[in-house]
This record gives sequence, C-alpha cells and structure tokens, in this order.
Amino acid sequence: MNIFKRIEEDHKTQRSLMEKILATEGSSKERQTLFSEFCVEFEAHAAAEEHAFYAEMLKHEEMTDQSRHSVAEHSTALELIEKLEKTDMSSAAWLMTFKELAHENEHHMKEEEDDVFPLVKKNLDDETITEMLTVFNKRKEREKSPVD
Ligand SMILES: [Fe+2]
Ligand SMILES: [Fe+2]
Repeated sequence: MNIFKRIEEDHKTQRSLMEKILATEGSSKERQTLFSEFCVEFEAHAAAEEHAFYAEMLKHEEMTDQSRHSVAEHSTALELIEKLEKTDMSSAAWLMTFKELAHENEHHMKEEEDDVFPLVKKNLDDETITEMLTVFNKRKEREKSPVD
C-alpha cells in the first residue's frame, strides 16, 4: 500500500456512496443513512489529506499553488455539505445541491489523481511519501472514531 493507492481507495468509496445517494428518493431512511456516511467519510478524508498530503506539499514552492487550490476545493465541498444539512432532504433543492456537490467532488478527486499525484511523485522523495501514508492513516482513524 502507498499513499496514492490509499487515497484512490477512499475516492472509490466516495464515488460509490455518491452514486448510491443519487439513486435514493425523498427523505428515505436509506438516503439519510448514506448521506451521513458520506459526510463522515468525506470530512475524515479531507482532514487526513490536508494533514498528511497538502501540508507537506505546501513546504515546496513548486507545489504551493496546486495545494492551495485543492484545499480551497475542500472548503467549497464542506460549505455545500453544510447547506445540505440545513435543507429539507425531500425537496428538489436538496437533490440539486447534492448533484452540484457530487459534480464538484468528482472533478476534485480526478484532479488529485491526474495532476496532484504526479506532482508529488516528481517533487518528494520516497521516505517522505512513505511517511505521508502513516500520517494519513492515523489522522483518518482519529477523525472517524466517535468522540466520547
Ligand atoms: Fe481532496
Ligand atoms: Fe481526495
């Protein structure tokens, strides 16, 4: 396992959850459960990426612009999630906003896979890349464990 495969695995989970949510209707129990699963997963993934991945990239001038861009996209997605949490799930507005989130997030994940990964592979050494996976896993686990 390496950090790139690890992130791709999470992206696969997010893609599958988004697809399932789009196939649900109204404020069904199924939509509620899948959406809260998606939120927990998305937020933990973004936090772990920022901690393990983007924080390291930001130390290097040649990757600063891309890092800032990607982190800004996390914020946009989190704002859409917040909006969804305040919207009636059975309304057309909810589905429209969720579609927007799914579209934005698909673009974001594809950009990470196609543009960010090659940039990291080009600019960071193997040791740093190995360390990223450890930091990512630790943070993700912490984000997903329920607070007492
Ligand atoms: Fe991301
Ligand atoms: Fe990601």
